[in-house]
Amino acid sequence: MKKQRILMCPPDYFGVDYEINPWMKGQIGLVNKGLARQQWDRLYEQLAEQLDIHCLAPQENMPDLVFTANGGLSLGTKVLLSRFRMQERQVEEKIFQETFCQLNYEVIDYGSACSFEGEGDALFQANERLLWTGYGVRSGLEVQKSILQDLEVDVVPLRLIDPRFYHLDTCFAPLEGGEVIYFPNAFDSYSINEIERRIPPKKRILVSEEDACQFSCNLFNVNRLIFTNAMSLTLQKDLEARGYQIKLCPVSEFMKAGGGVKCLTMKLEQESIVRAPQKESLSSPIRSETLKFSGHLLDSGQLADSLNFIELNGLSFNLSNFTPALRQDQKSHAELKLCSPDSTRLENTRKALIDRGWECTEDREEAMFFPAPKDGVAPEGFYTTSIYPTQVYINSKNLHLQNRRMDGVIVFNPAQQSITCKIIRDLDQGDLVLIGEKGLQVESPQQSDDAEAFSFMSSSVSSERRAEGQIKEIAQEIRKIKTAGGKIAVVAGPVVVHTGAANYLEKMIRADFIDVLLSGNALAVHDIEYQLFETSLGVDLQRGSPVAGGHQHHLRAINRVRLAGSIEAAVHQGLIKAGIMHACVQHGVNYVLAGSIRDDGPLPDTIMDLLVAQERYSEAIKDCQMILMLSSMLHSIGVGNMTPSGVQLICVDINPAVVSKLCDRGSLEARGIVTDVGLFLQFLSSELNI
Ligand code: ARG
Repeated sequence: MKKQRILMCPPDYFGVDYEINPWMKGQIGLVNKGLARQQWDRLYEQLAEQLDIHCLAPQENMPDLVFTANGGLSLGTKVLLSRFRMQERQVEEKIFQETFCQLNYEVIDYGSACSFEGEGDALFQANERLLWTGYGVRSGLEVQKSILQDLEVDVVPLRLIDPRFYHLDTCFAPLEGGEVIYFPNAFDSYSINEIERRIPPKKRILVSEEDACQFSCNLFNVNRLIFTNAMSLTLQKDLEARGYQIKLCPVSEFMKAGGGVKCLTMKLEQESIVRAPQKESLSSPIRSETLKFSGHLLDSGQLADSLNFIELNGLSFNLSNFTPALRQDQKSHAELKLCSPDSTRLENTRKALIDRGWECTEDREEAMFFPAPKDGVAPEGFYTTSIYPTQVYINSKNLHLQNRRMDGVIVFNPAQQSITCKIIRDLDQGDLVLIGEKGLQVESPQQSDDAEAFSFMSSSVSSERRAEGQIKEIAQEIRKIKTAGGKIAVVAGPVVVHTGAANYLEKMIRADFIDVLLSGNALAVHDIEYQLFETSLGVDLQRGSPVAGGHQHHLRAINRVRLAGSIEAAVHQGLIKAGIMHACVQHGVNYVLAGSIRDDGPLPDTIMDLLVAQERYSEAIKDCQMILMLSSMLHSIGVGNMTPSGVQLICVDINPAVVSKLCDRGSLEARGIVTDVGLFLQFLSSELNI
């Protein structure tokens, strides 16, 4: 098998000659050069068994040139050349550039305006076109947007917050098996969230501070071998259990300069990236924008306050055209270029800065629209909507998206200067559809920086134990909504009838707590079957056992309603005398029954055209403040997709997986209760005193 190629540099001139990271403090002149040589040679020998090593010529007065990881980042035929943040290392740029040219790479240089320290701050996830990048200490955020375009990879920026772990490779390493090993305290909570969003729990390997400080994460992984400076036994065992073999290669002398095994190598080929590029699906989360200020910036403490706020939120900035007021009666002027790892944080920061007196400038990115190529087809690259408040910046104006829902597209109407949300099948040819995320602002719920608050938020699914307390709160909420004249919808599955809980739902309807009932054919069929034959799907609900000939009951019930013409007619004719559907008809509850392929009958009221049913559902939930989803997975998910944020969703199901799925809207307003729906309704109606 062909060996993977890497770049190293012998330590002829290695030493600690200056201090540019915390590890170097107090180490100037203290490197044991003989030992450094031995350690490097030993590492070289071990790596050479597995890899094809290209060495670059060591240079006098470049003590850190041994850390080739910082020279650049290669993918395919391209290398992104590093631009060092620290002046001490900028002399190395020329050497790396020459080396890459000699090796016939196409060298991409982003220039000195923004620093980028190569593989030190850019690591590929194995077998994926995903690049983790570090920013905040050495590399800037600005260039990372260009990386995505130039290398055609997804870029996930991670913010480093501990000066000891100043490069991403000092505290984070993706492994060949898809695992990621990292020291969580080195990152801000947004970044941890990004890691957790992409890597399943089983594949996350968290290391202790002790391991982090011996640079265990600064490892070189080839096939199943892991080369690193040192590692605790616990961590070694964990990795061995996952099929890795650990090779300890002490590099204590290099640690004095703040570098470990990984820092001493740079991959000249990224063997593990196998997937074909998918350019269309790549869209950078990184956003930038310029704001300007004119007023009291210095004496009011405004500048420090604004910059602090920007940093706290994980954005980077560039201050330009700064003319400070030199007299009390003068104004300061300044421009501030912000760069944010995502649009939400840019949006929140912009708002906070505008509150502090900053103004938007013309260079704000405008949204881009392409015409729909055909009726019912969106142009390639279309943006899909979320449930959250959304604004789009067009012709220097912010337009609000009115009819929000999930999985729609945004259409611009130039005549009215307005934007609406449409589903793809409703598009007309030529409709102007928003492409990508330029000019887009989405107000997703603010993430808290507080880990505890965060874990509380994410555990909105509760089990039996807490159900009682939650139902009390829900009952209070229902009363509040109804007293204020609000609307409540119920999405219910037939289980409500099978569990014998139909009468509780009926009571809630009769007490005018429910305004809308969304369901399928079955709930109505079994409710009516029970009224006519006292069985639900042939089962005597009192005794809990099937009755003779009971299996035909539901068909007979359907047939009678078909004869009457509709459920409403059957109620008026006195055929149906009680039950959920009877209560709906009597109390003017808007019920919509959406059919499915397995429906018997169906009832004349069941809408078998699914597109019409979806429209009727979405019409029915307009202006509802709360939706109770009772044991009906598909109807509930359907409703969840068409509901904008701001509506309380209560999902009740005995199956925790269903509840999690329903609550997984990334929003705080979905509450899940894992319990029997019969018990839930019984308890809820008693809380509502009915
Ligand atoms: N002294 C070097 C610096 O501070 C060490 C670089 C370590 N390299 C790395 N990839 N983490 O820049």
